[in-house]
Amino acid sequence: MEDLAFARALHVLAVVLWIGGVALITTVLLPAIRRLPLSENPVVFFERIERRFAFQARILTLIAGLSGFYMLYRLNAWSRYLSPTSWWLHAMTLVWLIFTIILFVLEPLLLHKRIAERAEKDPHGTLALIERAHWALLTLSLIAVAGAVAGSHGWTFG
Ligand code: HEM
Repeated sequence: MEDLAFARALHVLAVVLWIGGVALITTVLLPAIRRLPLSENPVVFFERIERRFAFQARILTLIAGLSGFYMLYRLNAWSRYLSPTSWWLHAMTLVWLIFTIILFVLEPLLLHKRIAERAEKDPHGTLALIERAHWALLTLSLIAVAGAVAGSHGWTFG
């Protein structure tokens, strides 16, 4: 039983650091960069700061995914994927999948290059696009967090 509690603690710690970082970037860093009178391209400036977090986010995503799947295995709860009342499990898995694809596939393979090209032509439009994408991911993540905490303690909003 202790291993399950340990996995849960690890899972929540990873989620706090990861989604907390996304919240800081979305609600503090991006609006601040938008308002700064920068001499350099604001997108290049943003990416220089965000690079360190992207590295942390990759490790945290791995820890959250491994601990999450371990809990499912230990609880023998795979069938929850078939139940609509476990929508919060679908939400968690969806958030994890989106970030995993962005951080491990899209970002290194094409997103970084595409953003740099677009930012050269339209720096402020590109920054606004980055900000909107962060708001969408943060909103989805917070719904998953609230749903997971309420759902795993018996409240499924239904
Ligand atoms: C592959 C991805 C994931 C899987 C398989 C997974 C699986 C799980 C499982 C099995 C639990 C325990 C449920 C229970 O005790 O009944 C849990 C708890 C939790 N998960 Fe995830 N999860 C994943 C990703 C995420 C993500 C991305 C987030 C945040 C956006 C998240 C947030 C949480 C939270 C906050 C809890 C704690 C609930 C509590 O004990 O109060 N999980 N997860």
